[in-house]
Amino acid sequence: MEVIIKNSYQEISSLAAGYLLNTVKNKENAVLGLPTGSTPLEMYKIVVNEYKKNNISFKNIKTFNLDEYIGLNKTDKNSYYFFMEKNLFSHIDINWANINIPNGMTSSIESECLNYENKIKKAGFIDILFLGIGKNGHIGFNEPAEYFEPHTHEVKLHQNTININSRFFNKIEDVPKKAITMGIKTILSAKKIVLIAAGSSKAEAISKTISGKIDPRLPASILQLHNNITILLDNEAAENIK
Ligand code: F6R
Repeated sequence: MEVIIKNSYQEISSLAAGYLLNTVKNKENAVLGLPTGSTPLEMYKIVVNEYKKNNISFKNIKTFNLDEYIGLNKTDKNSYYFFMEKNLFSHIDINWANINIPNGMTSSIESECLNYENKIKKAGFIDILFLGIGKNGHIGFNEPAEYFEPHTHEVKLHQNTININSRFFNKIEDVPKKAITMGIKTILSAKKIVLIAAGSSKAEAISKTISGKIDPRLPASILQLHNNITILLDNEAAENIK
């Protein structure tokens, strides 16, 4: 694991944006794996600014998002589809047919999950996957559990994830209780992973991710098995690293 610690959220965001932009510049049909949440917001802002200033094209880029809530329409301002459209896709020249986000409104979750796995495989797997991390060590929506779930699947969100994510909703009852997420094997099949974490609320999960036992109760610990991962931390997220 390569661990890079910088003084500020701004600095790690521009490093992360650099990884994304370099991938796009070096491989015009690259496959990107993308997260939502608060952490990647600055990275997306920088990517959009650089896109506007420079001659970078996303026309042949394919994207796969990590996860989506079950039961929210694309047009719902809390859906991850809406988030991606607002923060990235509507600002760049990506071909909308190349955007992949699990469909949380599907009538068959099982076939949606199977399809999603097949699409990733058919695309030649993800060249670079960006991850945030939950306070409880979740990656995507792979919550702490008794075992690692390998493939894209339906997940029941933990109450603490619902509580944390309720900041975006009018009331906590509106937060969906379930989601579709890439599985652990799906995540590990990415050729390169960049995990970004900022703030002291992530410090404990980060230290366990880097030097704890590999344990499905701290899902991110499995990332120790990936041989091309970079972890970008601000000082606060790094404060528990021994
Ligand atoms: C979002 C995702 C989640 C978040 C995590 C951290 O697509 O997969 O694992 O990365 O919950 O969220 P923030 O960045 O809001 O702290």
